[in-house]
Amino acid sequence: MTERLNHPEGILSLQNIAMPADTNWSGDVFGGWIVSQMDLAGAIHVERLSKGRCATIAINQMTFLVPVKVGNVISCYTKILKIGNSSVQVQIEVWNSHDDSRDPVRITEGVFTFVAVDVNGNKRVISDEVKQAYVANL
Ligand SMILES: CC(C)(COP(=O)(O)OP(=O)(O)OC[C@H]1O[C@@H](n2cnc3c(N)ncnc32)[C@H](O)[C@@H]1OP(=O)(O)O)[C@@H](O)C(=O)NCCC(=O)NCCS
Repeated sequence: MTERLNHPEGILSLQNIAMPADTNWSGDVFGGWIVSQMDLAGAIHVERLSKGRCATIAINQMTFLVPVKVGNVISCYTKILKIGNSSVQVQIEVWNSHDDSRDPVRITEGVFTFVAVDVNGNKRVISDEVKQAYVANL
């Protein structure tokens, strides 16, 4: 992870609202629901970048900082850390986006690795054009 800032880093890849069905017995939203939102956000970013399907191969360094309540709007921000031959490492932050009267609160963060795959689910090489376009936009 890069240094923790007091504002979101990366691009907004996904937003969702926590619903009653996403909670545990004590009324907080399941960590697994939040992880699934992060997984979707990372996949959206990596599939757009790599121009095709991807699969999650690893989740590292998850930290849950504050609980999520029903009705909270969560915003997932994704930032590419590294592009390999077939893999892409992504920093994913989740923020609780209140209305404009309050500052957003960081809920969780993690580093996910995705692998670009073909239609049969086999890994595929990420093209040099994709890598060069990414570097050019840094
Ligand atoms: C994704 C998959 C096709 C990769 O195939 P593979 O032949 O095992 O691939 P490799 O072992 O060569 O690894 C592919 C890339 O992932 C990277 N990688 C492998 N294990 C990793 C790990 N634990 N952490 C980070 N990166 C990892 C490799 O370094 C490699 O990167 P590179 O190509 O950029 O150098 C295969 O592992 C798979 O289908 N996994 C299941 C995916 C899935 O179902 N995800 C959803 C989970 S429910």
